[in-house]
Amino acid sequence: MKYVIGIDLGTSGVKTLLVGHDGSIVSSAQVSYTPDFYPGGKVEQKPIVWWENTLKVLKDLMEKNPEAKGNVTAAAVSGQMHSSVFLDSNNEVIRPAILWNDTRTTAQTKEIVERAGGVKVLLGLTCNLALEGFTLPKILWLKENEPENYAKVNKVIMPKDYINFMLTGNIKTDVSDAAGTLLFDVRNCRWSGELCARMGISPKILPEVIPSTGFVGTVKQELCEELGFEPGAKIIAGGADNSCAAIGNGVIKDGQGVISIGTSGTVIGYVGDIKSEVTGGVHLFNYSAPDSWYAMGCMLCAGEALNWTKRTFFESLSFDELNVLAEKAPAGSGGLLFLPYLFGERSPHNDPDARGAFIGIFGGCEKGNIIRSVMEGVAFAVRDMYEEVVKFTDLNEIFITGGGAKSNLWGQICSDILNRPLKVLNVSEGPSYGVALIAMVGSGAAPGFEEAKGGKVKVVKEITPSENVEVYKKFYPVFRQLYKSNKENFKLIKEILKNKKTK
Ligand code: XUL
Repeated sequence: MKYVIGIDLGTSGVKTLLVGHDGSIVSSAQVSYTPDFYPGGKVEQKPIVWWENTLKVLKDLMEKNPEAKGNVTAAAVSGQMHSSVFLDSNNEVIRPAILWNDTRTTAQTKEIVERAGGVKVLLGLTCNLALEGFTLPKILWLKENEPENYAKVNKVIMPKDYINFMLTGNIKTDVSDAAGTLLFDVRNCRWSGELCARMGISPKILPEVIPSTGFVGTVKQELCEELGFEPGAKIIAGGADNSCAAIGNGVIKDGQGVISIGTSGTVIGYVGDIKSEVTGGVHLFNYSAPDSWYAMGCMLCAGEALNWTKRTFFESLSFDELNVLAEKAPAGSGGLLFLPYLFGERSPHNDPDARGAFIGIFGGCEKGNIIRSVMEGVAFAVRDMYEEVVKFTDLNEIFITGGGAKSNLWGQICSDILNRPLKVLNVSEGPSYGVALIAMVGSGAAPGFEEAKGGKVKVVKEITPSENVEVYKKFYPVFRQLYKSNKENFKLIKEILKNKKTK
């Protein structure tokens, strides 16, 4: 059989997935690493660390699967979005990459809005708000804080583009990663010359943009030999991790969407045409499927809220035991509500100062009420994102994935709070599978994403709303009001804690 490889270049590790041309998942290999964290919200990583680890896991994967030797026809990379790799005119890395979760750029985000001519103009040009994590604020930060480094910049690319460069010698990016820079005219799918001019940035530092299924180049001959790929194996552009994950989770046409409850959480909906007004409640990016977009809500603390609850209050219990306790509590947790903003929140509030809260603790409150309210709070926040996403697309087929989908109870709570049926697939590989499908389509091994799956992807569970819908309908407006009522309190708390230790 012939194979493709999907590579998922994440923040805390890299994973490779060997997929047959028949759509079957054959094998995987992964390795972990940690980015470098510095005071002041700085998070950086040397691109060479990504490259060395990618090579290592590619070799591990090939060693584990001798049948693939000489039979890997193509590969593609899905990458952490927004993180900036600065290259000089010899294509050497100038300084460590500044990552998507780095928050040093608050001043630059304000500057961007001013220079653009206001939030509305910025939304008109890029379809997105200026967030600290995006690429443009990082470019401006470099210009203002490390002018000697900025002077050397010849190209700014994203992490997966760097891996593609190391594999092929060619520098390109794809539409889904370009969209996350805040310099891309998302609606018209091209770099925004106008925004570059307003920001004082030369468009020459931006790479050529191709579709996610576009061809970057062939793997260098010596690497093909070292890795055991077919000579001339193709590297397909790949895309932003969230975009690739959605492809891998079944979102390939109008009406489809996916909810992911991992450490963080997302709600993604396929957008075939941008018909609604773009308000910035969720991100709107170019998608890895041809000529389309996706609306994405991103919450910073989803599964992590339950991890935190377990660590803090119930360390000796397993997740299964937590589920059993939560099942015993009534829907609505007896009036105990939880705000999941442990790290501030992105969609829809875009408020780094927001914090978590339990509200409605009562005398008879038991462990199960606490656990269930955490699950419900996350699901209410998912509903907040869902409400924004459905402004762009009617979702009539919604998949659910991540840890939240593994818990029957949490999946049910999500279905009840959204009042929508949710489907669980037999694949949970997300980005690495999605990008393998992209490699397959881009290299001509399959005509489209559906064909690339070869009938291997199936719905294994459908969760339908229960009678609890009615209770949640009453609690949802209360949940929404709780953030609004506490927004100012969160700011006051931040002010009090300024420069004070929190532990
Ligand atoms: C999306 C985002 C993150 C990164 C993480 O906007 O910032 O999901 O892509 O990999």
